[in-house]
Amino acid sequence: MNNTDVIGLDHLAVYFPDQYLDLTDLAAARNIDAKKYLVGIGIHNAAVAMPSEDVVVLAANAGLKVLQEAGVSPEDVGMLVIGTESAVDKSKPTAAHVHDLLGISTSCRTYDIVHACAGATYGVLAALDWLHNPKNKYALVIASDIARYGKESLGEPTQGAGAVAMLLSRNPRLLSLEELSTYSRQVWDFWKPLDKIYPIVDGLYSTQCYIDAANSCFGALEKINGNSAFIYHTPYPKLVQQVHARIAVMIDEKIDWKQHFVAKVERSCRFSARIGNIYTGSLWLSLASQLEFSLSETTDPTKLKEDLDGCYLFSYGSGCGAALLRGEFRDTWAEMADQLKVEQALSARRRISIEEYEKSIIDYENMSLNDSCPDPTSGQFKLAAIESEKRVYTRIGV
Ligand code: HMG
Repeated sequence: MNNTDVIGLDHLAVYFPDQYLDLTDLAAARNIDAKKYLVGIGIHNAAVAMPSEDVVVLAANAGLKVLQEAGVSPEDVGMLVIGTESAVDKSKPTAAHVHDLLGISTSCRTYDIVHACAGATYGVLAALDWLHNPKNKYALVIASDIARYGKESLGEPTQGAGAVAMLLSRNPRLLSLEELSTYSRQVWDFWKPLDKIYPIVDGLYSTQCYIDAANSCFGALEKINGNSAFIYHTPYPKLVQQVHARIAVMIDEKIDWKQHFVAKVERSCRFSARIGNIYTGSLWLSLASQLEFSLSETTDPTKLKEDLDGCYLFSYGSGCGAALLRGEFRDTWAEMADQLKVEQALSARRRISIEEYEKSIIDYENMSLNDSCPDPTSGQFKLAAIESEKRVYTRIGV
């Protein structure tokens, strides 16, 4: 295959708030055994966004990072898609703000896609189609969400916030991508009526819908390559174990799925365990986790192909829609993955108290943005004000 026929991820970058809630603190406040969160669900920390940090801010920070690290000018981006289910407007796209903040040209096709957690994956699929036209150079797809379930809800320990920006091109430096199978079905597992600020969730049923979708997507393949990384949408790591127990036996019914999970899946779950569910970005955060730990835990990055032939990427969005993609690592994957540095950003975060976390809930419910709201310390952008119902975004320090 000609190199210019290969399409996929040239680079990706992750951005998340610089403050987090430790779930042992949440467990103590809710009078729940911490092991339920840490082991039963598999999440240790939840990223908590500040009032000055909405999905536009998260997306713009991730987008800026991916362009700078890839050395790509905003002028060369011809398609900008934001996948989000926590948009701040029912009409004006999040992408319009991000387009402005990143200085992307007016000749760029710019829009949002909403399909619960699958929105950004559908953006990636649209970008893959768009890049088949040799006139098109770079597509930027950004997944950005703040997952909130409300105080004392069952979903509370799975909350999170963050964005993943994906730069797609022909002859990509990180990972080639192609769609293998897809799945759609009308279900009521998780939804957000327009007049509600929190989702309505049928928790147990949602896990069944997720598992059915994965069974169907992997079941459509003639053969599953067991020497791949299996990267799943990760609302919480325990569900990924539960789904992989079922998918692994499709590779070989005698497989020891626990061993296979440790070898081919576990690395991809580590960032989600420290950030929580970031909805549209969750699958792509799991890819970042797989890449960063594959790199740090190998002595010779050129030998990755002996450990892993490539990867499967399973995306699920409630409601529901799912897609299974195949990725092949490119020869230059290590140079790109080396720039991720998610672990470094995780270690620099500030642990907030349960009181600060509960204040952030009140701020969100009251939509309050006032002078006492501090600026985020890690990113380049902030929501500075809301004037005459218009959101004003600025560069920090400008
Ligand atoms: P729950 O009712 O609190 O949990 O809700 P549980 O009582 O079933 O316990 C969870 C696990 O902890 C169980 O393990 C318990 O045994 C274990 P399992 O039986 O599953 O193996 N446990 C303990 N383990 C150790 N020590 C203990 C202990 N106590 C209990 N002391 C639920 C859990 C996930 C349902 C809830 O958090 C929820 O509703 N979350 C939100 C919905 C969700 O994440 N669904 C996932 C699939 S749908 C999806 O992924 C789409 C989504 O991302 C949205 C979108 O697409 O936009 C959510």
